[in-house]
Amino acid sequence: MGTDIKIAVLASGRGSNFKALAEATSDESFPAKTVLLMVDNPDAGALAYASKSGIAAEVVDCGSRRGSMTPESSESMAELCARHEIDLICLAGFMRIVKGKLLDRYAGRMMNIHPALLPSFKGLDAQEQAVDYGVKLSGCTVHFVDKGIDTGAIIIQKVVPIENDDTAESLSIKILREEHRAYPEAVRLFAEKRLKIRERRVFIDDE
Ligand code: GRF
Repeated sequence: MGTDIKIAVLASGRGSNFKALAEATSDESFPAKTVLLMVDNPDAGALAYASKSGIAAEVVDCGSRRGSMTPESSESMAELCARHEIDLICLAGFMRIVKGKLLDRYAGRMMNIHPALLPSFKGLDAQEQAVDYGVKLSGCTVHFVDKGIDTGAIIIQKVVPIENDDTAESLSIKILREEHRAYPEAVRLFAEKRLKIRERRVFIDDE
């Protein structure tokens, strides 16, 4: 459909959320299409699925500082997004804080998925943090990206109970299953223009 929005996914590793998004959006009735993958790591597993499914993929050198990206790489990504007429950027396991031109240009049009119920357990190893803390419920959060780390307005959360015998690994598997449902749902709501942000609350239109 000509009115479908175009999405770009940014990833650093395995790429299971990229795959979930690419598969969901490949359905003709889905109001968005995944047209671009950008990675900061030439060994990212996500690249294999992009090539298999014919999605354009670019490796962008983001610099050697862990967790950070250079202004040049932000600019290159912004240019790639412009070239592919991207409407929405989905971060999916992208291991750097997005800033600079890319964030400025896509403010309100960039999402991230985090494997915990924010604002609990921000940052790295969220599943391990949840198990170690001893919470009974965790899950995943899809949120808009702002300048902070995992601080943007929350779009969707899915809850996963933590059982006595759960480890960080077993919990990660259960959460990942929910992530693969939550991310396409959030993208669909965005594409259908059903997300309204007031202050930092996101309201979902029923119609
Ligand atoms: C996911 O758990 C996601 O929530 C987090 O990084 C992981 C990426 O996994 N931000 P994958 O590369 O999508 O499989």
